Amino acid sequence: MPYYTKLGKLPSKRHIQFRRPDGKLYAEEVFGTEGFVGPTSTLYHINPPTQVIGWKQLYSTKVEYVERDTMRMRHVKSAPLPPKGDAVTGRVVLFGNNDVEISVCVPAEPMKYHFKNAMADECFFIHFGSGTVFTMFGALKFGPRDYIVIPKGTIYQFVFDEPKDGEPEPRFLLMESVNGSHILPPPRYLSKKTAQFLEHAPYCERDLRTPEMPMTFDKKGKYEVRIKSRDLVHSYEYSYHPLDVVGWDGCYYPYCFNIDDFSPIVGKHHLPPPIHQTFEAHNFVICSFCPRPLDFHPQAIVVPYNHSNLDSDEVLYYVQGNYKARRGIEVGSLSLHPQGIPHGPHPGTPEATIGATHTNELAVMCDTFAPLYPTTAALELDDLNYPRSWEHGWEPEGAESNGHANGHANGKSSKSAKTAKSGSKKSSRVVETKAASNSAKTGKATAGRSTSARGGKAANTWD
Ligand SMILES: [Fe+2]
Repeated sequence: MPYYTKLGKLPSKRHIQFRRPDGKLYAEEVFGTEGFVGPTSTLYHINPPTQVIGWKQLYSTKVEYVERDTMRMRHVKSAPLPPKGDAVTGRVVLFGNNDVEISVCVPAEPMKYHFKNAMADECFFIHFGSGTVFTMFGALKFGPRDYIVIPKGTIYQFVFDEPKDGEPEPRFLLMESVNGSHILPPPRYLSKKTAQFLEHAPYCERDLRTPEMPMTFDKKGKYEVRIKSRDLVHSYEYSYHPLDVVGWDGCYYPYCFNIDDFSPIVGKHHLPPPIHQTFEAHNFVICSFCPRPLDFHPQAIVVPYNHSNLDSDEVLYYVQGNYKARRGIEVGSLSLHPQGIPHGPHPGTPEATIGATHTNELAVMCDTFAPLYPTTAALELDDLNYPRSWEHGWEPEGAESNGHANGHANGKSSKSAKTAKSGSKKSSRVVETKAASNSAKTGKATAGRSTSARGGKAANTWD
């Protein structure tokens, strides 16, 4: 994070005596990046953070990509993914490359250990579910539609609340910066002199929720910290609770940001995706498509022009909206539009949306500057018909792949995809219905509802 903050007890100066109630010294740890010239925090532990009593390798996290030589638009329906594992082991990588891994997780069980990703910053988008992520910097309470940015090296444990009747099961999207870079706000929104958010930024410091108490767990016993490094998860054993920090200060810490606190930038004419940008790391960006008024020129075409994003692959994760606006798309869908093919609105959409005043859409986009590849898990959820969905007269319901231009490069039949597809319709309806029910029950006014409350015609502008 760019700005300085602190929590808990601190000595008056760095690197001086700071004593526990029993007279012994607290253990100071400088938690630094980029060889100690990047963002850094200084933490004070009850126990020396160097003390471990055991370690071993657990499992590989190396992602196997498939169809690396196939370039086509893809549509992966993640709604049918069954719950599995916990908030770490349940992650299913769907797309990725040497810069970023994009996964979806529907955790089935609680984390019984703490975790440290020593390879990547992690940017979660909580689609459904609420709870607390306990970190070495303090606790972050989270809920639906929160981004949670956890920087590399942070020890944490997710604890999800039990869903109430009618609420969807917890589900999140995760983007990991596997190239080792840090996920940060776009530099153009920050003061070069103070790192303060500038006036034209779509969010600012007040929108970011930093760690709070409880932070310090002064307990002895056997505690496991699983550390992801070198494409492996290692198990490290501690004789004390790993969240034993009594105070810290600096510019490196996890935080939450709710997507409904993103203030969309709107224009007289259609504005390109960079206006939606929320975060960036080396070779990829993360954007928030939020409910907002649409372009206000009297003759505006409010949906995107056809476009070739020649240096990027675009992945959209669909959170909420009118899914008739993009054929075949459902809650939890991910579309991939690679850099080699132009894409844009479906036939008839520009005419049909003339006069629309606002959009209720909500989506998270990850654009990369290198090609993205699918995993086997993605192929099993792949809607093979999607590349044809721009054809005049194409309908998603009951459509079957004719094999041309759609076949997997490895020659596999589309049986698994069809099976997943038939299952996905049922599952995604459940997700959508429960989401609507949940929203109505909580009475939490989403930005979409408050936008549509002004009246007028709505349209989705999926990029
Ligand atoms: Fe696009």
